[in-house]
Amino acid sequence: MSGKNNYFLTTPIYYVNDKPHIGHAYTTILADVLARFHRTAGDKVFFLTGLDEHGLKVQQAADKKRITPQQHCDEMAPRFINLWEKLHIQYNDFIRTTEKRHERVVQNILKKVHEKGDIYFDEYAGLYCIGCERFYTEKELIDGKCPQHNRPLESIKEKNYFFKMSKYQQKLINYINDNSDFIQPKHRRNEILGFLRQPLDDLCISRPKSRLNWGIELPFDKDYVTYVWFDALINYVTAPGYSSDNTSFKKWWPAIHLIGKDILLTHAVYWPTMLFSANIPQPKMIFAHGWWLSGESKMSKSLGNVINPLDLIDKYGVDPLRYYLMREMVLGQDASFTLESFIKRYNSDLANDFGNLFSRVSTLIAKNFENKIPELGELREEEIVVQNNAESVIKHVNKLIEKMRINEAIEEILQFVRNINKYMEQQAPWKLVKTDKSAAAGVLYTAAEALRISALLLHPVMPNRTEIILDILDTNGTELKWGILKSGTILKKHLPLFPRIKVEEPVTDRIKKTTRENVITFNKFQKVELKTALVLEAEKVEGADRLLKLQLEVGEEKRQIVAGVAEYYNPEELINKMIVIVANLESAIIRGIESNGMLLAAKKGKELSLIVIDSENIESGTRIF
Ligand code: MSP
Repeated sequence: MSGKNNYFLTTPIYYVNDKPHIGHAYTTILADVLARFHRTAGDKVFFLTGLDEHGLKVQQAADKKRITPQQHCDEMAPRFINLWEKLHIQYNDFIRTTEKRHERVVQNILKKVHEKGDIYFDEYAGLYCIGCERFYTEKELIDGKCPQHNRPLESIKEKNYFFKMSKYQQKLINYINDNSDFIQPKHRRNEILGFLRQPLDDLCISRPKSRLNWGIELPFDKDYVTYVWFDALINYVTAPGYSSDNTSFKKWWPAIHLIGKDILLTHAVYWPTMLFSANIPQPKMIFAHGWWLSGESKMSKSLGNVINPLDLIDKYGVDPLRYYLMREMVLGQDASFTLESFIKRYNSDLANDFGNLFSRVSTLIAKNFENKIPELGELREEEIVVQNNAESVIKHVNKLIEKMRINEAIEEILQFVRNINKYMEQQAPWKLVKTDKSAAAGVLYTAAEALRISALLLHPVMPNRTEIILDILDTNGTELKWGILKSGTILKKHLPLFPRIKVEEPVTDRIKKTTRENVITFNKFQKVELKTALVLEAEKVEGADRLLKLQLEVGEEKRQIVAGVAEYYNPEELINKMIVIVANLESAIIRGIESNGMLLAAKKGKELSLIVIDSENIESGTRIF
């Protein structure tokens, strides 16, 4: 970070239909932390995030609510915007693909690429995943299912427009070979080079309006729209002002794209070939980070195992969550999220190390120096060591951030904090004050200045609580330079900033053994997957008076179950009801029909009532505990 550069950083634009989860929060916090580090270093930063609002899923969701897709997008967008506000994300631009500025740029690029002869019309038959909004080839599938969503694909045959991606295959290979930092980390670069050893297919970029009209109309055929990837990727050049204002565009472009590994192919193959065709320079870097996992699976909505970051924020605060996510993931690798490791990290780094330094320094200054920052006095060897240490940490942290090694940068800062705690123990200013007050003053000034430096270094990661520390020290000095703190400044009063989180004893220890019969352990109960399911279709089973065949939506997945409720409900009554099912029940064949799951109902005598969800906000596929 030289402090003089223009730094353009992007996150993926998230699907507006998704409920924001920790995966989205992670990439956005990561971008925010990098953006803040660069701003502090004096770089001019343009941090872009936003929403991907076109596509079949949006259209279907709007149809279900009987509103227009635009109304649906407008209703959903604030969920992301509010979360970013809550997480203190300081983006510079928030783009939505339904904005006019974007439509214009997409059409402009389509026209350019079409006129160049890189778009053609053809019939296509392929397997499509609505979850990923892209076609898959047979060889990419796992057990015949989408590798991301683990569900069957739709087979589609229709006439469409295609982008000649294959034309740019060799150019892309050469570009990747010549620019070793283009795709990062290295193993992702190798993955893409491996993928490019096979012949590259062309890219289907359109949908007939008869099937999907929630996209951007093709400038050369009014009966077709472009959708998701060809549309979404272009957001990265729309926002900095491509074509409308080339000065602004040239100021910012090329960007650094931060993405999750799930969308590497689209960013490292589709996007560069599109840019080649449109004669736009390549991004500076595409950096794919790993996934937050819960157990073995990716944390995301589709798999129904989401930890909502909002829940953690309300309980523990924004900064500790930001800290944990940044400290715990090695960029490029997967990481496991557990509440246990979150609490452990908080207690050791924030409560014990950083929080402890802060409360020690302020308590000792209050007790021995009338709450005023003391004079440094004559420099002793011990203080010079601390000062040198601080200066080398500042340099090293800058280098690590430049290389996107955030977790190492944080560890470097925390090691410095630990060194200062050690220095305090060795110097024992609480004792020293009795024999050599001016030496004790020097120690406390040094520790307070080290605290200020640590707070400044950690500011991009924890902007709120470090701001409080800087305010308590009454320092406007945001300069990362030793010796800014003013002697004589009165410290403001404060409560502990990182109170220890008490780890609750395991539930089983606290509850006395029950004497009831048929008791099962909590672990056993957890094995039963109860989920909400939306009834899409219901019909009687021929020749079976008591049975109904139901088609259900369970999150991203469609399921069929057979239920013995025909005596109590007409099929039509069930449509659109949000019911509860046991989702991990072994499948069974009932009267020759496959049933995948069982619905829950209360039955007494001749009465039967389905268990239904009475809140509109609970979506299908939500886990019930
Ligand atoms: N709309 C597309 C992106 C278009 S960009 C031109 C999309 N959206 S998404 O809502 O599915 O967001 C995907 C991104 O969310 C991932 O690339 C990653 O940044 C983040 N994550 C989603 N789940 C994640 C984890 N479990 N862990 C970490 N990040 C993950 O794809």
